[in-house]
Amino acid sequence: MTTNKTFTMIKPDAVRNGHIGAILEKITSAGFKIAAMKYTQLSKRDAQEFYAIHKERPFYGELVAFMTSGPIVSAILEKENAVEDFRALIGATNPEEAAEGTIRRLFATDITENAVHGSDSDENAAIEGAFHFSGREIY
Ligand code: PPS
Repeated sequence: MTTNKTFTMIKPDAVRNGHIGAILEKITSAGFKIAAMKYTQLSKRDAQEFYAIHKERPFYGELVAFMTSGPIVSAILEKENAVEDFRALIGATNPEEAAEGTIRRLFATDITENAVHGSDSDENAAIEGAFHFSGREIY
């Protein structure tokens, strides 16, 4: 069964580079509604836990350091087929491989500083949303 929610973060590079407004515009223009949103900064512990699934991968330390390097915008987004449609909107992990017009192609710097996160499954969308938001913060 697919749900209608996904979870995203506008990552520290995109925040630093002044792209919050432009990225939110792309997201809402694509038909996503905002169910929850906050401007926050991950602690090292938060990032280690959020990305624990990647802890054996060679880039884990770099990913945690980057994701704690400045503020982020985290959000739960709502739309039919949200997870799949949002992955299409953001494009491939490596911006060099991301399709024209996708958020990563437009706003990412490289495979580490890649502007946005999008959940890769309905199950992870629910886990990630609950990691960042309490029930009463979700509309
Ligand atoms: S996978 O195999 O599909 O799980 O991996 P992928 O979605 O491509 O990447 C998982 C997250 O790790 C980040 N990533 C990297 N960070 C630093 N360096 C390198 N080389 C690298 N490769 C992948 C990637 O941006 C993903 O972060 P999120 O926040 O999930 O987008």
